[in-house]
Amino acid sequence: MKVLIVGGGGREHALAWKIRKSPHVSWLGCAPGNGGTRSLAEPVDVDPTDVDAVARYARDNDVTLTVIGPEAPLAEGIADAFDPERNFLFGPSKRAAQIESSKRFSKDLMQSAGIPTAQYRAFTDLAEAQAYVQRRRGPMVVKASGLAAGKGVYVCESREEASAALGDMMGEKIFGEAGNEVIVEEYLEGPEVSLLAITDGNEFMMLPPSQDHKRVGEGDKGPNTGGMGAYTPAPVMDDVLLERCGNEIIAPTLQALRENGTPYKGVLYAGLILTDDGPKVLEYNCRFGDPETQVVLPLLSVDLVDLMLMSAAGKIGSMQQQLNLTPSNWKRISRTGYAATVVLASKGYPGPYAKGQEITNLPKERDDLVVFHAGTKWEDGRLLTSGGRVLNVTAIGGTLNKALETAYEAADQIQFEGKFMRRDIGWRALNG
Ligand code: AMP
Ligand code: GLY
Repeated sequence: MKVLIVGGGGREHALAWKIRKSPHVSWLGCAPGNGGTRSLAEPVDVDPTDVDAVARYARDNDVTLTVIGPEAPLAEGIADAFDPERNFLFGPSKRAAQIESSKRFSKDLMQSAGIPTAQYRAFTDLAEAQAYVQRRRGPMVVKASGLAAGKGVYVCESREEASAALGDMMGEKIFGEAGNEVIVEEYLEGPEVSLLAITDGNEFMMLPPSQDHKRVGEGDKGPNTGGMGAYTPAPVMDDVLLERCGNEIIAPTLQALRENGTPYKGVLYAGLILTDDGPKVLEYNCRFGDPETQVVLPLLSVDLVDLMLMSAAGKIGSMQQQLNLTPSNWKRISRTGYAATVVLASKGYPGPYAKGQEITNLPKERDDLVVFHAGTKWEDGRLLTSGGRVLNVTAIGGTLNKALETAYEAADQIQFEGKFMRRDIGWRALNG
């Protein structure tokens, strides 16, 4: 069958790498892909944000399964542009994708379904929002309700900071329309875990819990980035807690989405924080995490295309029956051991950085090592940097230490001008 991946980051390279291993796949395309997907997938020249053009491409080229990497095409309604009788699409409808594209939608859904999350108020009026933060004490979190490319969350230590954040979002409109509505919420403390669940809207199957490293600096300091590294499984999420998250968070979220008339298919990403009062949802995403996908997929021992087709066709439940699985049984669909990924970034990221630097000394893929490309491109036979996050050096090992050792050894060997990385990926698990 023909499979098309939409997107061009490290997550999409990891998806292409895993999907290529499926015996069902005779042709794989990636729109637009990157320097790394080129050896696995044909570059497809369709604008990933033009949802009708992608749907037309799938229809005209008999693409059986289209997999959407980033949130923007889902929020634009790419799933609704597909005819499910002809071409499968892995991902939620526009209305269900609001779980990510509107924080107001997701907070209201959680509140009405009793899903644990930070207490909040939503505002469309700047003066009202300002008056509200002046009445509050201590740290609080200000969030643009719409999509802001991962930058729309300000953790504020004081009223003054919160007030400035509101001014940026609602007054200056630094995130455009995404800041027309804001959420002001309670500040929560605890380790964060990313939980990915593949679902057909009714039943779901969890993938191993992972942990991202969002800040640019060691010890989780400095500005937020798209993610500087990840590892899985995160030991902080033991089997008992995972089952609890499935029962108290994922299952009721899917139920609430069904009852709301917005049934959800695809992968549901729950960003959780493990507080002293139990796990709470910080946010949902309507897609695979980046860089979490780069560690979760190398451990997956089942055919990802099968899982995606079951999701699209509403058959996750029958797969679970056949294999005698429960939703939290991820160990039965993953190999044992750990995976870790270290992001090599361009100096200056997440601020301005240089592009076009030549990348050399890339290690060959091995059973325990694979380098997923993010911001790379080929030009005149040379591999060049083309983004802030350049490569995801990913390793697996029997222990987390071993996986990290392998990843860092390869990361040190790779060269390009301005390369930098965090040296402490996995620190929470190693110190824990
Ligand atoms: P989000 O995009 O909603 O995941 O937020 C980005 C990051 O901001 C999260 O990964 C957390 O580190 C932090 N954050 C978001 N909401 C809260 C909260 N209510 N309390 C503390 N930290 C938060
Ligand atoms: N790793 C964070 C995200 O994908 O949103």
